[in-house]
Amino acid sequence: MPPVNRVLSPEAVPDLQAYIAEGGGAAITATREAGGDAVLRAIEASGLRGRGGGGFPTGVKWRAVVDNRSPSLPPTVVVNAAEGEPGSFKDRTLLQRNPYRVLEGMVVAAATVGATSLVVAMKGTFTEEIARVRAALEEVREAGWTEGLEVAVVEGPSEYLYGEETALLEVIGGRAPFPRLAPPFRHGTSLAGEFSETTAGRVMASDSDSTAAPPALVNNVETFANVAGIVANGPDWFREMGTEKSPGTIVCTVSGRVQRHGVAEFPMGTPLAEIIETIGGGPEEGRELVAAMSGVANPLLPAALFSTPATYEDMQEAGAGLGAAGFIVFDDRTDFAAVAAGVSRFLAVESCGQCTPCKQDGRALSELTDRIRRSEADPPDLTAVEDHVRTVAEEARCFLASQHQRVLSSILELFGDAVAAHTTGGPAADEDPIIPIAGFDDDGGRFVLDEKQRRKQPDWSYDEEDSGQAPADRVNQRAGDLAGEDADA
Ligand SMILES: Cc1cc2nc3c(=O)[nH]c(=O)nc-3n(C[C@H](O)[C@H](O)[C@H](O)COP(=O)(O)O)c2cc1C
Ligand code: SF4
Repeated sequence: MPPVNRVLSPEAVPDLQAYIAEGGGAAITATREAGGDAVLRAIEASGLRGRGGGGFPTGVKWRAVVDNRSPSLPPTVVVNAAEGEPGSFKDRTLLQRNPYRVLEGMVVAAATVGATSLVVAMKGTFTEEIARVRAALEEVREAGWTEGLEVAVVEGPSEYLYGEETALLEVIGGRAPFPRLAPPFRHGTSLAGEFSETTAGRVMASDSDSTAAPPALVNNVETFANVAGIVANGPDWFREMGTEKSPGTIVCTVSGRVQRHGVAEFPMGTPLAEIIETIGGGPEEGRELVAAMSGVANPLLPAALFSTPATYEDMQEAGAGLGAAGFIVFDDRTDFAAVAAGVSRFLAVESCGQCTPCKQDGRALSELTDRIRRSEADPPDLTAVEDHVRTVAEEARCFLASQHQRVLSSILELFGDAVAAHTTGGPAADEDPIIPIAGFDDDGGRFVLDEKQRRKQPDWSYDEEDSGQAPADRVNQRAGDLAGEDADA
């Protein structure tokens, strides 16, 4: 199945007029004519699933927001454009090529759930996309799309957890990216920060508070990009591509040990081998592909199973996961002890420490796997890895800890012998940093990784030495120091 261009424009759409000339804006007109109920039913019938990684049914989420509306305050619609999954560059590509389609989906969502504010939440480092979105927002405002809506662009921190949806809401409220216990339809967000006392804030989240805070609807960039087509053309049109359980298309990123890197859109159900071949051009000269990993969120898929159709259900059945469809590809040069250490370091560093096992087992895993990579470990160290993998996700508030468990378990299952070989001597493996993509090098045809990540410490500083403190404790301590300063003043 060749690539398609339903949500990913083949080239950058220069301005709003160009988007309208190709049919853009039709979903807003249809929403004004048909009303929110009809739109909600269309989204439900389409079977659209969130493209942020979890594949959660979008219609169910929108319905939950409608059903949990505050009696007095309207919800907020938020686009999660914080893309920090290693191996993923599709959200930034979608925004660079056509921010109008994403904004159209958000305006439709606002009308459907009765929201009066829109938030585009991006990382402050995404300067190109921020400029593009701000310019597009000005154009759509002039065209009357956002009439009656308060619109904000939030330029957030570079932490991976910023992309976790409750942490994203914390950042919008002016706090650190620490996941909450309460789901977004229970505790939303407020641009004015009125609800700061009800959320994680300096004392961290708890599930004990009750509030009339309005819900927030958070969807991924690609999810909103799909909304315009569904509303303008109907759910049956949407279902013309894909499978019953995974309808529509999927925008994939391919990086790692292939001839070239890139992003392209495919009908759901396209075999992974075809996606890797089309975007990546196959393995490098004289090499063979061995496995692929969708971000740091899913078990690896061995090359023997590359014929698996890219759908949520098929990838899961094959023992892996579709995730955000950002595939990091490994070839026969790969030392999986180094991959384990790379993934483990990233997740241990990015853990916020609100849950003790996630941070402490995470740190232990990172140290042990790195020792194994350097061939400075003994066989008992491998047993210790297995022990920490078992407990790292206990009492976890968000999915990051389970990601650590899933990825390391799968590396041990698929490449355990190669990892174990490092505990009985032999040469050290070079580092294999598994870190987010910073941009695309047009000349080289490859992604450039965010090298700064390699200096980041588990306490979220860039100091020479890690303090040993968890990020959550550092923020609490700073808050306590500030309170002390206030009292002294
Ligand atoms: C550690 C972590 C990082 C995440 N990062 C992102 C991200 O960068 N972008 C995103 O859309 N979703 C991310 N998610 C998923 C979001 O929590 C959430 O499921 C998603 O924004 C919902 O949108 P959707 O229903 O449209 O998929 C992340 C989740 C976790 C646990
Ligand atoms: S599971 Fe980990 S990253 Fe998620 S809230 Fe707990 S400590 Fe933080």
